[in-house]
Amino acid sequence: MSAYSSNNQPTLVTLQAHILEQQTRFPEATGTLSWILSALSISTKIIANHVRRARLDDVLGNVGNENVQGEQQQKLDVIANEVLLRTLGKREGVAVVASEENEEPVMLRQVGEGKYCVLFDPLDGSSNLDVCGGVGTIFSILRYDNPAHSENGWLQAGAKQVAAGYVLYGSSTILMMSIGLGVDMFVLDPAIGAFVRVAEQLKIPHSNKSYSLNEGNRLTFPAGYNKYLDWAQAHGYSSRYVGAMVADVHRILLKGGVFMYPPTQKAPKGKLRLMYEANPMAMLIEQAGGKAMATPQQRILDIVPTAIHQRVPVILGSPNEVDHVLAHLSE
Ligand code: AHG
Ligand code: MN
Ligand code: MN
Repeated sequence: MSAYSSNNQPTLVTLQAHILEQQTRFPEATGTLSWILSALSISTKIIANHVRRARLDDVLGNVGNENVQGEQQQKLDVIANEVLLRTLGKREGVAVVASEENEEPVMLRQVGEGKYCVLFDPLDGSSNLDVCGGVGTIFSILRYDNPAHSENGWLQAGAKQVAAGYVLYGSSTILMMSIGLGVDMFVLDPAIGAFVRVAEQLKIPHSNKSYSLNEGNRLTFPAGYNKYLDWAQAHGYSSRYVGAMVADVHRILLKGGVFMYPPTQKAPKGKLRLMYEANPMAMLIEQAGGKAMATPQQRILDIVPTAIHQRVPVILGSPNEVDHVLAHLSE
């Protein structure tokens, strides 16, 4: 069945139509969240164009300074960040935006004026850009309309997210999104400039003998991870690792398996950021029937954050495959 017709019946549902369809399920909805999701849609279409034209427009490579993460900022990190800040800034429902590329969250409106906080990693896996590897944008949306939210109100556990998603700029431009009613998948059709729905209520396979992590750090992993790797390799597991969380997690969502970023000597709490990488991915994975843990005892979405850029270990994917990792960590 194509996204456009089945049995000669038109089936085209654009992201815009899908967002409005979902909004009707919430009679009290004012459309503010829908308006923010559509801002994310247009932002990622603009970013997709920049990514695909990067070498032509000579915007590859780094800007020559480090971002707040202590990492070399790519030119496209800055471009993508500015697109999102500019587009979201115009939506009155947005009180605060928080970005991997900004040291502090940006207060756009006072508490009560805006209803939501939008957090994002504007360009994930940006070190892949120069070699035309998969890169993406990750977003997370929290409510921000409680007067108690005035001070650092964005520091909420991932379980409080009202929406989360990512866009993968790969061989096609894919948007995956959840507002808590399951995970839906869209593909950008450049011919019409719209994200078209291609799957609803996507479910992650329960198992798949595939793991994804940077084995180059193996010597400094906690012992349980190496016990798992020895077990997996003895049981015929394959290894797939792109080095861009969005691309690796997208493969896991569609094919199953387990993605990990363990603690390492260089990143004792893991490298991935809780608020705008681990939390949104954990929401999608759980909404698709998977598991997302920081440790055998700690569910990612239960972690109450203390800092906007805090890092967390990540083990997520098919329930069976996550359990195999946790079992070896708990030995
Ligand atoms: P970002 O480009 O936003 O800094 O994220 C890169 C992250 C994540 O996308 C990926 O899973 C991880 O870095 C890869 O890290 P290593 O290169 O250390 O494996
Ligand atoms: Mn990232
Ligand atoms: Mn990034």
